[in-house]
Amino acid sequence: MIIAVDGPAASGKGTIAKALARHYALPHLDTGLLYRAVGMAVLEAGGDPASPEDALEAARQLASALDDPGLKSEAAGRAASLVSAHPAVRAVLLDRQKHFAGQPGGAVLDGRDIGTVIAPHADAKLFVTASAETRAARRHAELVGMGLDVHLDAVLHDIRARDERDSARSAAPLRMADDAVALDTTDLTIEQSVAAAIAIVAGRGRHAAND
Ligand code: C5P
Repeated sequence: MIIAVDGPAASGKGTIAKALARHYALPHLDTGLLYRAVGMAVLEAGGDPASPEDALEAARQLASALDDPGLKSEAAGRAASLVSAHPAVRAVLLDRQKHFAGQPGGAVLDGRDIGTVIAPHADAKLFVTASAETRAARRHAELVGMGLDVHLDAVLHDIRARDERDSARSAAPLRMADDAVALDTTDLTIEQSVAAAIAIVAGRGRHAAND
């Protein structure tokens, strides 16, 4: 079974995808980490994430380690959002993601374009959302928990800018697949969100239009 989990930054999609992977004993890929790794590599090389040439070179040379905690930083997220707008960068990362989705037994992938581009034939598709204010508050609490001194307003501003960039770009914009089921986690706890996601997948996770 292939499960596609898409949604904007800090919507809870990563937590939900991890929980679904555990529940169904499937491998999980957080595809945002690929873009974050490319973005960080560009920054570390002294390049500009907005430059298609710099970003493409980093994508081509991407090392496979995705467990660097630095990838979770806001700087990496911002750089990821910039490099991910370049179609050539997306093309380089496409095979790797499709290959992961196509492994025997299936997989859970989370990102922005899993249900629309990477795994359009996924067995279940979720589109996880939450209000920008709620997402900013969650991300803020996470960053403060990491010992960082950040302001809620700055985090909200960053989330809105990232939403705008991810939705407005022409290459694989953030968009809910026609056959995805929306899950709004604004007023849900993590436990409630995970339970709702499992219920959607158990119900096959696609709209009746496909039946
Ligand atoms: O999900 P996460 O916040 O880690 O993603 C970081 C950035 O990578 C996003 O803002 C988005 O621009 C990009 N991304 C993407 N396609 C994906 C996953 C992430 O464009 N499948």
